[in-house]
Amino acid sequence: MEPLLLALDQGTTSTRAILFGPALAPRATASQELPQHFPAPGWVEHEPEDIWQGALATLRAALAQGGAAARDLAGIGITNQRETVVLWERASGRPVHRAIVWQDRRTTAACAALRESGQEALITRRTGLLADPYFSATKLAWLLDHVSGARAQAERGELAFGTVDSFLLWRLTGGRVHATDATNAARTLLFDITRGAWDDDLLRLFGIPRAILPEVRDCAAEFGTTTPEILGAPVPIRGIAGDQQAATMGQACFAPGMLKSTYGTGCFALLNTGATPVFSRHRLLTTIAWQLGGARTYALEGAIFVAGATVQWLRDGLGLIGTAAETGMLAQQADPAQAVYLVPGFVGLGAPWWDAEARGAIFGLTRNTGRAELARAALESVAFQTRDLLDAMAADIAGEVGVAASGTGDTMVLRVDGGMVASDWTMQFLADVLGAPVDRPTVMETTALGAAWLAGLQAGIFPPPGGAGDVPRAFGATHWRLERRFLPQMAREEAARRHAGWLDAVRRTRSGG
Ligand code: G3P
Repeated sequence: MEPLLLALDQGTTSTRAILFGPALAPRATASQELPQHFPAPGWVEHEPEDIWQGALATLRAALAQGGAAARDLAGIGITNQRETVVLWERASGRPVHRAIVWQDRRTTAACAALRESGQEALITRRTGLLADPYFSATKLAWLLDHVSGARAQAERGELAFGTVDSFLLWRLTGGRVHATDATNAARTLLFDITRGAWDDDLLRLFGIPRAILPEVRDCAAEFGTTTPEILGAPVPIRGIAGDQQAATMGQACFAPGMLKSTYGTGCFALLNTGATPVFSRHRLLTTIAWQLGGARTYALEGAIFVAGATVQWLRDGLGLIGTAAETGMLAQQADPAQAVYLVPGFVGLGAPWWDAEARGAIFGLTRNTGRAELARAALESVAFQTRDLLDAMAADIAGEVGVAASGTGDTMVLRVDGGMVASDWTMQFLADVLGAPVDRPTVMETTALGAAWLAGLQAGIFPPPGGAGDVPRAFGATHWRLERRFLPQMAREEAARRHAGWLDAVRRTRSGG
């Protein structure tokens, strides 16, 4: 019998464990909500013990539900919310503070100071990222400066820093392994993505002692084994990747030019650009898509902080809907004559605007505006934001021969996943606004799928990627299946007119606008 694989997907709002059977068919799923803490406006924290307990509980539950035991597993793959910072004592394993979450804006002023002093160019050249509070380094510096005694302890090598993957790996291995993978390291602002190494200039710039950093490994690697009491017997941990990168693998975007977008709390679009990093000229991020056998594949990434969260706000904040699924039905009933735009800048605007000070706004309200028009505006905002990302990507890769001349032909095709893509109405509007096909796969758990694939690759269940062409055959062709393709139906002039209305709404929302 083909051995089983267990994926742990530790996300921003929940922790999920999925047991995969032969041919990566999902067999059992366990999930648990993760409590959120908002100690001050714009601050977001998680309790590391909650993260750990959620991981333990879901791993055990998925195994039990699938009627499997530790000895049936070929390996565990970990995938995680990225950038979130955990700092803990090596001796006791005790975190010195709550985790500071990627959404947290407490270091906005520190980032502005970096930009004003002209440091952003160096940061972008080395890391592919921007001086924005989204990433780990300024949050880590905040912990070292604000937790009593932390800096001195860090300099003595008594503390360990990690993104969530690294913290979980430490705990799962009983404190024996302090490591991470290249995709998570690439989101810290401390990692040179071209050399694939921690960068001394950046460590100096952010005041981070080297002694606290984890070792960086490939995404498919021997990361260590779980202590026996966790699942009843030791299990090897064989894959780690940040959640958006894992989804890119789960969507089998293995050839340059292939593109996926995940719609969860936020929206993250990654475009495979191949073996050479493409540095964005349009305020996108350049990041490591995966590192296998020491070789890195890069991606251009557009990160939007709020997508599905807008629908949550309609439900929980305004009480306009009872369930998220109602939104699509309401949107269909909206008055076509009303041009209502909702710019969901609840926590500022991400790519390509990067305006941390902006806040949400609604334009075009009349006395006839009701629930249906607001629901439609919320769903449309997700499509318009995706269009902004893809326009920036298209401009960035114009002339990048290796990317544009991909196996996908001239037109970009967008592979989608995440909770929001269940809405046919939203996916059709997305295809209309993009003027490009939108592909929805059969297995929606693409993030976990990617993590399980990495563990299976390392275990030798799947053939090793000998060259770029082999990987899609080994994984994509076998395990990625199209459920439905949405083709653009709206006239291009109409789509352009609506998008222009959106851009005007964004201009009026921006803090300097
Ligand atoms: O960069 C943040 C991203 O990794 C969070 O993803 O799915 O936990 O909202 P998610």
